[in-house]
Amino acid sequence: MATTTKIFKSIDELAQFFAKQIAIRIGNGPEGDFFSIALSGGSTPRAIFQYLAANFRNSIAWERLLVFWSDERCVAPDDQESNYRMAKENLLDHVPIPASNIFRIKGETDPSAEAERYAETVRQFVPSYNNIPRFDLMMLGLGEDGHTASIFPDKLNLFTSEELFVVAEHPQTKQQRVTATGTLINNSSVIVFLVTGEAKAGMVSSVLEHIAGSENLPATLVSPFKGELLWLLDEKAAGQLKTIKK
Ligand code: 6PG
Repeated sequence: MATTTKIFKSIDELAQFFAKQIAIRIGNGPEGDFFSIALSGGSTPRAIFQYLAANFRNSIAWERLLVFWSDERCVAPDDQESNYRMAKENLLDHVPIPASNIFRIKGETDPSAEAERYAETVRQFVPSYNNIPRFDLMMLGLGEDGHTASIFPDKLNLFTSEELFVVAEHPQTKQQRVTATGTLINNSSVIVFLVTGEAKAGMVSSVLEHIAGSENLPATLVSPFKGELLWLLDEKAAGQLKTIKK
């Protein structure tokens, strides 16, 4: 597994690099093939989605994207908390992706039933490797507690579940989530962590520099079985890195 860490002066520079990666990788794929991407949630992607919509509307073959999510809050699709709503408002409504290529997690339905349904949907549309769907690109964020997707440190067993998607619960808010497991995440061709802001600097250093105690954090367990791992950071999020060159 190749891990690459790139540090950018601004979120726009990070977004530009990320967008170019998507454009290149779609372009490198066999003509006519779809490119499957799982979007991360939270607030970090907002500025990245806005940049993509504003600057890459005509330079990515959007019609070749199949859009999924790594996780979703168990709320209605028009809820302020919805990862789908955030992506729709900041990206999907502004680029020519056919609605039929967008597969949201239905946060408004029964979480357990939705985890099963969504796993079947992913199996149906995302080609498998070792009998597990293999995303072309999996976007992930990093929580200050070391969580990623909606796998939190207090429920590490969810990461190693044999299921593709499971029901999780935010440790503080108790909000239910539907989340990809490590079984699915680590089967991706390319996993990209996108992390910005000073608040994440300590956790970035812990995970990337293997500080004692970080070995059992969900983000630390992200390690593609056969693929690439990219960490895209802004300078603030990289501010506490000691050994990784800036
Ligand atoms: C979610 C995400 C979660 C997020 C991190 C970072 O649904 O919240 O999937 O893993 O990526 O918590 O969130 P911020 O970008 O808001 O800091």
